Amino acid sequence: MKKNPNTVTFTLNGERKTFITEPNEKLLDLLRREGYKGTKYGCGQGTCGACTVLLDDRAVYSCLLFAMQAEGRNVSTIESIGSHDQPSDFQQELIQGGAVQCGYCIPGMIMSAEALMKAETTFDDEIVKEYMDGNLCRCTGYEKIWAALRKVLDRQEAAAKK
Ligand code: FES
Ligand code: FES
Repeated sequence: MKKNPNTVTFTLNGERKTFITEPNEKLLDLLRREGYKGTKYGCGQGTCGACTVLLDDRAVYSCLLFAMQAEGRNVSTIESIGSHDQPSDFQQELIQGGAVQCGYCIPGMIMSAEALMKAETTFDDEIVKEYMDGNLCRCTGYEKIWAALRKVLDRQEAAAKK
């Protein structure tokens, strides 16, 4: 059967879904329209990282991708990471470290950190910076976010050595 040209089908947070879309609709706009509002609109130009999601486990700016480009792929949003009652390790460290101010950048930061943890097994500072440098924060000066992430990564490295 011929595919309806105005739909896109992809796996979103582990569930295969089909959405109505338009050829010029950005993935970010589709996600937010469908209620995945944890993914934020910041610059809309690929410079701030607020819209970061995972596409097949790689961090991408969803404001730069057309929704159609997700056809057949795996997309993960912040809604797939932790929850209010059961935050992920990084979310927990961010909370405990007082690392969140307005919070607008945080979902994107968390998704970039996820990409890092999925792809790498050792986390020296240079690698971490490579993964995180596409995410801007206007509020915190980064130090507490960095410290929270470092704690998680140090624990993971230590656990891998056991
Ligand atoms: S909103 Fe996509 S990079 Fe800023
Ligand atoms: S906490 Fe406000 S932009 Fe990062």
